[in-house]
Amino acid sequence: MASTYARITGTGSALPERVMTNFDLEKFVETSDEWIHTRTGIRQRHVAAEGETTGDLAFLAAERALAAAGVQASELDLIVLGTTTPDLIFPSTACLVQARLGANGCAAFDVNAACSGFVYALGVADKFIRSGQTKKALVIGAETLTRMIDWKERETCVLFGDGAGAVVLEASDEPGIYATCMHADGGYKELLWNPVGVSAGFRDEPNHGVCIKMAGREVFKVAVKTLDSLVEQTLQAAGMQASQLDWLIPHQANLRIIEATAKRLDMSMDQVIVTVDKHANTSSGSVPLALDYAVRSGKVQRGQNLLLEAFGGGFTWASALLRY
Ligand code: UT7
Repeated sequence: MASTYARITGTGSALPERVMTNFDLEKFVETSDEWIHTRTGIRQRHVAAEGETTGDLAFLAAERALAAAGVQASELDLIVLGTTTPDLIFPSTACLVQARLGANGCAAFDVNAACSGFVYALGVADKFIRSGQTKKALVIGAETLTRMIDWKERETCVLFGDGAGAVVLEASDEPGIYATCMHADGGYKELLWNPVGVSAGFRDEPNHGVCIKMAGREVFKVAVKTLDSLVEQTLQAAGMQASQLDWLIPHQANLRIIEATAKRLDMSMDQVIVTVDKHANTSSGSVPLALDYAVRSGKVQRGQNLLLEAFGGGFTWASALLRY
């Protein structure tokens, strides 16, 4: 019997209308376009309007992915949504999007793996399809990270943005996702986190507001090292050589981290999709936004091999190697 693969049949994305450039940031925080661009590659980010939610962006991205795939929402068996900035504590943002799409009845849940959320969600949906339980899945990565930024803290506020991306995955005899890897190490929780919550409590004292805390330099070091071994492991799991890859579609946190991974794979930067300049770090939104940009701009073509990878709070790290 032929094996069942999960194939991406459509992609979509959505960004808030408002663009905030590094020059805009210079006006209210002690930073400079030069510092931000040299250290991170970021030029601008999109910021959600008041009242605009993660679910709104996810819904738009999902509609576009479904249209690209030619799939009706009512045909979906599964919705998995990666986010760390859900609209509500519950129901999950996946459920909110499901209702708006009119996909009522299928399984729908969120995955919180911080910046690795979309790649985790893709890995989960892949397993559902490979098991035969699911034929058509919608996988979304969506965030409104600017909702939990301290705009006075220059170490973090210049780094993040809002946005969403989505893919439709369908069961197919043709590849498809070859391999996915997922890892976490909660021992690193305090290097990148938002230390408040329902059960731990929402505290207001200084340094404990509802905002992202990051030890940037330490995160950087672990990210580079971890991604090095992750890409090796993924190639091995797929039985492939780096030379067989057409594109690297990395998490868009920092251009220097992306360049280090490309170098490790001996890939030229011409084979790397870079959107960090336009979107900044959109956490779970980052990889599917980059993928949709790559598809719609005509860079990524059917039949090409793509390596997707992400690293984020937890720490979590995950990858997927697939034929588009
Ligand atoms: O998505 C999840 C994963 N996240 C990441 O992968 C992020 C990983 N980390 C990074 O991308 C980088 O570490 C940062 C971009 C966050 C920081 O870059 P860095 O080269 O590691 O800079 P640094 O933290 O070592 O700071 C260097 C200097 C410091 O000043 P001193 O101590 O050298 O005088 C900072 O105070 O830059 C200063 N600085 C700034 N200056 C202007 C920090 N933030 C800013 C800023 N504007 N926004």
